[in-house]
Amino acid sequence: MKKILVIHGPNLDLLGKREPEIYGKVTLAKINQELQKVARAKKVSLKIVQSNHEGEIVDLIGKSKDKFAALLINPAAYTHTSVAIRDAIAACGIPTVEVHLSNIYSREEFRHISLIAPVARGQISGFGINSYILGLLAAISLLKE
Ligand code: DQA
Repeated sequence: MKKILVIHGPNLDLLGKREPEIYGKVTLAKINQELQKVARAKKVSLKIVQSNHEGEIVDLIGKSKDKFAALLINPAAYTHTSVAIRDAIAACGIPTVEVHLSNIYSREEFRHISLIAPVARGQISGFGINSYILGLLAAISLLKE
C-alpha cells in the first residue's frame, strides 16, 4: 500500500479555537479523521504529523524520500517565510500538494506569496476542510503517474 505523508504546520493544532471567523470551527482531529476515511476508501496509508517547528518539518521531509510516495502539506505561516521547507521539498523530489483552509490570496498581502507553491505540483486554497480532502485526492492521483 502506498504511503502519503501529511504535514500540518504551526498553530494548526489550535484549529477549532483559533480565529474561527477565518478557519471555521473544524478541529485538526476532525480533519485527520476525514482524511483517514478517504485514505481507507482509496487504499492508501497516511502518516499525519503536526509540528510548530520549522526544523522538525525540514527533517521529516528530508527523511521521506524512500518512505512516502507523496506529500500533502499545509505549511501554515511557514508558507510565506520558509526557504528551508521549500528547499527540503525540492531536494526530496516527492510530488507535493500544498493546501490552505483559507484563501490566502484574499487575505493580507504578506499571505499572497507562497514560497512553497513553485516546488509543489499544485495548491488548493480557500475551501476549509475540503481543501484537505481535495488535496488528498490530488496527491492520490499523482501516485498513478
Ligand atoms: C493557512 C494560511 C496561512 O497564511 C496561515 O499562516 C495559517 C493557515 C491556512 O490554512 O489557511 O496558519 O495555511
